[in-house]
Amino acid sequence: MEGFTTFPMRLWLNMAARPTVMTTPFLRVTRAHPEGQLPLLFAPELFELRGVLPYALTPQLITADSQLFLRAAQLLPPDVSSAVELNCGCPSPNSVGREAGSGILRDPKAFAAIISGMVASLGPHRLAVKMRLGFASADEFGPLVQSIATLPLARLTVHGRTRADGYRGKARWDLIQQAASVAMAPTWASGDVCGMETAAQLQTAAPGIAGVVIGRGLLRNPWIFEELRSGSHQSITAATLANALLCFGLLQELTITAPAKLITKVGRGHFADFCGTSAQGWERVTAELTSMVGGYPFILGTDQVSVRELAALPLSPTAWARVRMLWAYLRSSLPEPFQAPRLMRARSSSDFFSEFFAASASVMNTLGAETLILRHQLALDDCYGGARGT
Ligand SMILES: Cc1cc2nc3c(=O)[nH]c(=O)nc-3n(C[C@H](O)[C@H](O)[C@H](O)COP(=O)(O)O)c2cc1C
Repeated sequence: MEGFTTFPMRLWLNMAARPTVMTTPFLRVTRAHPEGQLPLLFAPELFELRGVLPYALTPQLITADSQLFLRAAQLLPPDVSSAVELNCGCPSPNSVGREAGSGILRDPKAFAAIISGMVASLGPHRLAVKMRLGFASADEFGPLVQSIATLPLARLTVHGRTRADGYRGKARWDLIQQAASVAMAPTWASGDVCGMETAAQLQTAAPGIAGVVIGRGLLRNPWIFEELRSGSHQSITAATLANALLCFGLLQELTITAPAKLITKVGRGHFADFCGTSAQGWERVTAELTSMVGGYPFILGTDQVSVRELAALPLSPTAWARVRMLWAYLRSSLPEPFQAPRLMRARSSSDFFSEFFAASASVMNTLGAETLILRHQLALDDCYGGARGT
């Protein structure tokens, strides 16, 4: 997801909840970019970190030009086993204006020509396609899918909305099921899966699908993959959640200030273990990341002294802004005191965690519970669930 599933977030998600496959945010391919090599942080899992991390990574590109797509795809390791995905869903005017993203869907004939040309160049089972139902209307979907149904794609992922829908309305799982029944490629569904209840509903509505892509659901509750695997909501202490959020910020910081050092560390097996909701797991990672960023190991405790000490950690405004971006969604899966605007307005990490622990004390006093349950709350989607422009 653009702006989110970058390398540091993928590392963090792997520690939190072990998704089996992740996709890079799309890389816009132009005549001038990328040239010679892919950006260092686009997909290190396929280069320096090949085989180190347990998840599969699909690199995603956006362009309407088959030749440019091929040129960029050739910058991936030649023996790469994973597929390269073409984004045919992005609704932004920037993409559509270049006939890319969901702009490719405007003309079924041109769409079929682009996709079959790419398959012919890359070879069978190398191209994955991520598409919407159509540009202006879901009526476009049948002809679009038919036009690529027999192609040997690695994967066909369908977001069950049109470009005109944006993120409004319900995703059409019925149409995704129709695609799964005609396409030769394994068909994955995208849209509105936010937890085990919606995952079960999707399974009933679209039994032919081979997998599910989770978008906004992972921002609302990054532990969703564990929820789906275990069949139960995940619970976490406030201190562990705080350390996990701090780790998210520290990984962002290292990506900005010392990306090569971070990659080397991961290559030596660090930051690859599953932590889930375990206090010890996240404390170990926090101590290691704070040593790298601040020069000494530090673990966040619920006391004010520990929260004040955070001020000494060199977390840049950019890294902290990434935490706030995640928090803007994540808070909607937590009890109401965490949704208070003053947490969002906190100017620094120590102000934020001070408010965070005040909210958790209030929750614990009211509910008498020791842990927080991460649970997607459908009623809050209008406030916290949309993408930009919705
Ligand atoms: C902030 C944001 C960024 C996204 N970036 C991408 C992207 O780079 N590539 C892509 O194929 N889809 C992208 N999507 C679309 C999602 O993959 C997904 O298809 C869509 O959000 C519907 O699924 P959901 O209801 O699970 O969110 C993005 C969505 C959001 C909200």
